[in-house]
Amino acid sequence: MNRYSNIVLVGFMGTGKTAVGMALASELNLRFLDMDSVIVQREKKPIPQIFAENGEPYFRALERNLVGELAEQSGLVVATGGGIVLNPGNIADFARTGLVVCLSATPGAILKRVEHDTNRPLLAGGDKMKKITDLLNTRRHLYDAIPCQVDTTNLTVKEITGRISALWRGNTFAGATQFQA
Ligand code: S3P
Repeated sequence: MNRYSNIVLVGFMGTGKTAVGMALASELNLRFLDMDSVIVQREKKPIPQIFAENGEPYFRALERNLVGELAEQSGLVVATGGGIVLNPGNIADFARTGLVVCLSATPGAILKRVEHDTNRPLLAGGDKMKKITDLLNTRRHLYDAIPCQVDTTNLTVKEITGRISALWRGNTFAGATQFQA
């Protein structure tokens, strides 16, 4: 029996949370759940429309409630939204029972991955690279505070998945820094 109930992927937009989460769930035979998708389904409108019509605080409250629900469950791989770290209570709740892993990537790699995406209201319009670096700078300390880190810049989904499943299975691996048991 694993000492963690869930695996929770945290990180800035475009760091690979969804792609890695899906691969990880299939490899470990766990259930994949994407928080943004659940919110979209429940609200019956896309994320940019939720931000435009209800505002960001409303979206953050939906995230907060969903964290409460998911932290009580087990057998999940959860891909969180990039802003989940804004409320420290979210990470504290997930960390009570889950293995929380923060994915990171360089701003250049993030830009490449999100360049043509229209579904991220916080990066919409104007200079995307500037938006990414500005937002990353305001949040960096929050992402960096998570003990288990994987830099996805130069890794394939398979490599990232391999590292996280090794952690999950209780093995050690060289790629995760500062992981505290
Ligand atoms: C956000 C990231 C998005 C989504 C929303 C806000 C953020 O999720 O939750 O647009 O504040 O960083 P992804 O990280 O999956 O893009």
